[in-house]
Amino acid sequence: MKPPPERTTPKKSPRSSRQQRVSSRYMRDRWEDFLSQDRRGMLMIEGVPVDHIINKYGTPIYVYVESEIRERAQRFKKTFGPEIGFQFAVKCNSNLEILRILREEGFELDCSSVGELILGLLADYKPKQLSLTNLYKNEQDLHFAVKIGVQSITADSLEDLEQIAQTAKKLKKHIDVAIRVNPMIEIGQYSTRGNKYGIPIGYIDRAIDLALKSPFVDLHGFHFFGGYVHETRVYKAVARVMVKLIKRCLDRGIRIKTLSLGGGFPAAVGDETAFPIEAMRDFTPWFHRLLERNGIVHPLRLIFEPGKSIVLNAGIGLTKVVSRKRLGLKKRMVVVDSSAYNFVPDALVQEGLHYDVLPASKMNAPRIHSLTIGGNTCDCWEIISRDLHMPKLRAGDLLAIMDVGAYAQVMASNFNTIKRAAIVLIHPDGTTKLIRRRDRYSEMFAPELDVLKLAGPNELERYNNLYRVNVDKYWRGKHGKKKNGKNGNGIR
Ligand SMILES: Cc1ncc(COP(=O)(O)O)c(C=O)c1O
Repeated sequence: MKPPPERTTPKKSPRSSRQQRVSSRYMRDRWEDFLSQDRRGMLMIEGVPVDHIINKYGTPIYVYVESEIRERAQRFKKTFGPEIGFQFAVKCNSNLEILRILREEGFELDCSSVGELILGLLADYKPKQLSLTNLYKNEQDLHFAVKIGVQSITADSLEDLEQIAQTAKKLKKHIDVAIRVNPMIEIGQYSTRGNKYGIPIGYIDRAIDLALKSPFVDLHGFHFFGGYVHETRVYKAVARVMVKLIKRCLDRGIRIKTLSLGGGFPAAVGDETAFPIEAMRDFTPWFHRLLERNGIVHPLRLIFEPGKSIVLNAGIGLTKVVSRKRLGLKKRMVVVDSSAYNFVPDALVQEGLHYDVLPASKMNAPRIHSLTIGGNTCDCWEIISRDLHMPKLRAGDLLAIMDVGAYAQVMASNFNTIKRAAIVLIHPDGTTKLIRRRDRYSEMFAPELDVLKLAGPNELERYNNLYRVNVDKYWRGKHGKKKNGKNGNGIR
């Protein structure tokens, strides 16, 4: 079967005569609206040459394209209709500015921890616009969520539900609870059997009974999340099971008010394909008919929790080649100033993942060989991408790792005690804004220095002082001023 096209909206035309179309050997449909190149063969994002971006902010750096994030959010709303609730999955990209943009687009938030609830509040969401869903929450997490009065807390197991009930009772505060259900469906290659999420449908009555018995728990809804969903028919199959369950509740006099079908909408990396969200255009009317057929006429809010499908393709990682090596007669590698661990962790986690890596400063150069991109940590398995057809590259050349707007920065670590990259947002008019700075050494060392201080303040005065003077400033002081007065790649 021919895969559906990735986009259904008309392409924007280049903004100025300086912009040229990116050669079709590199271009993919999903980047048409924001990628171009200049006459030098320099990749441009929203009409801005990438060398301008890195001269200002340094490498490695993530660039998020605001217009693409907004457009994807709007496509969801247009496809499903205004009455559907959208809760952006904070776990995939928790940047405050991105959360703010999605608030402006009318999204609420799906939070998986108290930390994410706090981020939601910092991004100016009201507590009633935040839901808390995860497999486990400790008492402190629940206390916080109940106290601020979130929209709902999702119970993932009987034990989880019991703990929610106890916390609500202790605080004497009613809380809307959704029960997470594993519908145990199998469709082609897709199956939720054995999934770690939710209570299997066969055991769900016990959870319902427990919720009804708990005086401070208001059983409000059901929730589903099924990982990566490649086919639209999965959502319909899940909805059928869930609506049957809602009907069974109604027969017992329980009115379920929300149904969340989670996220999991696909977003392509490399030459993967993903159905466009418009392929689900018939879902809302179909769902209403399903409710009617089951005699459910009371108001029921349908919720989706998209994550990567909103932001993945709107993120680009810019990194610099620092050296090149021959690994054998025909095997070549370039090393870059970023790594899978610190910059694109999915390269480690997802077997078979192949990022598109564009030669951002040499878009016009002939491609002459096959190349591996090695990251800059000392782990020998740590490769960013393999077998890329590339021009001749040397130190200083720029590369753009495409489709890194989700599950990249949030999952990146400080492995090798390397700072995680900064993030720049690029506005539709080509202006840029730093929305996260690079890590600081002082922050990276603080959790240990704090403990050491407690362990022996007198002996460790040396470290204490080091901590107090701010390690970053200390280094800068010893090694001269910032390069050109900018946040370059010097030691910071
Ligand atoms: C409860 C819940 N909702 C939504 C999402 C978002 O999934 P995706 O980024 O695949 O859309 C996740 C991801 O783990 C999740 O756990």
